[in-house]
Amino acid sequence: MDEELVREWRAAEREPGVVLLDGFHALKHALRFGGDVRKVVTVDRGALTALAAELAEDVVPAVDGLAVEAPEAVVRTLVPRLHPTGVVALAVRPAAGANLAVLGARPRRAPVVVLENPRNLGNVGAVIRLAAGFGATGVVTTGDLDPWHPNVLRGSAGLHFATAVERLTLPQLPAGPLFVLDPEGADIRDVPFPDDALLAFGTERHGVSQELKARADQLVAVPMQAGVSSFNLATSVAMGLFHWMSGKR
Ligand SMILES: C[S@@+](CC[C@H](N)C(=O)[O-])C[C@H]1O[C@@H](n2cnc3c(N)ncnc32)[C@H](O)[C@@H]1O
Repeated sequence: MDEELVREWRAAEREPGVVLLDGFHALKHALRFGGDVRKVVTVDRGALTALAAELAEDVVPAVDGLAVEAPEAVVRTLVPRLHPTGVVALAVRPAAGANLAVLGARPRRAPVVVLENPRNLGNVGAVIRLAAGFGATGVVTTGDLDPWHPNVLRGSAGLHFATAVERLTLPQLPAGPLFVLDPEGADIRDVPFPDDALLAFGTERHGVSQELKARADQLVAVPMQAGVSSFNLATSVAMGLFHWMSGKR
């Protein structure tokens, strides 16, 4: 029985577009935002249902319908590190075509966040969570980091399913006025962000590339005290999105 569960899990894992949901919160958000959840395995079905009932009543029927219980030793073989909530799940990420349609649709009612070649998985997860919270159209990354990596999904608490997350190249960016956030830019307080803006941010260590700067309609800075060289990437995104939201009622 347990061998069959492991075999089925491994087979599901190999299907195209399948991503790991590590822990209850990632599962909750995937279900709530219409993710195609294929497998849910827990060390304690009763505890999982109780957690869902306490924190997210809307997902209780789906959790009840999908969850399979297995001994903790078996569940631990499915993932590199078992989440404290003792639940792991597999879901299918939205097709690239669907995300591109969302990102490219005009008129756009909320900005697209662009992360140029981000290096830190936790930062990218935090940015996706911010984008979902602010109702951004989506998050585009460039470079080789996979924005659907399990650790990014963990950092976003599964909120990838609440916004459009894609990896593209700079020439593939959706159309729209491009505001590049850079400490050398114009004071952000003087620059309103339109709803169809692309808000772009540089890589953690080296900042914005010359190629991205050359594409910018405007470079914009959040003022800092003398001697401070930069803010953290995710906090910069938070300030950029808050600035956009502050201009709306
Ligand atoms: C950790 S910073 C990069 C640091 C890099 N050494 C530099 O000088 O830009 C990552 C990104 O956050 C954004 N950022 C950080 N501080 C900012 C500020 N004061 N104003 C605007 N953007 C900022 C920029 O997009 C930057 O490329």
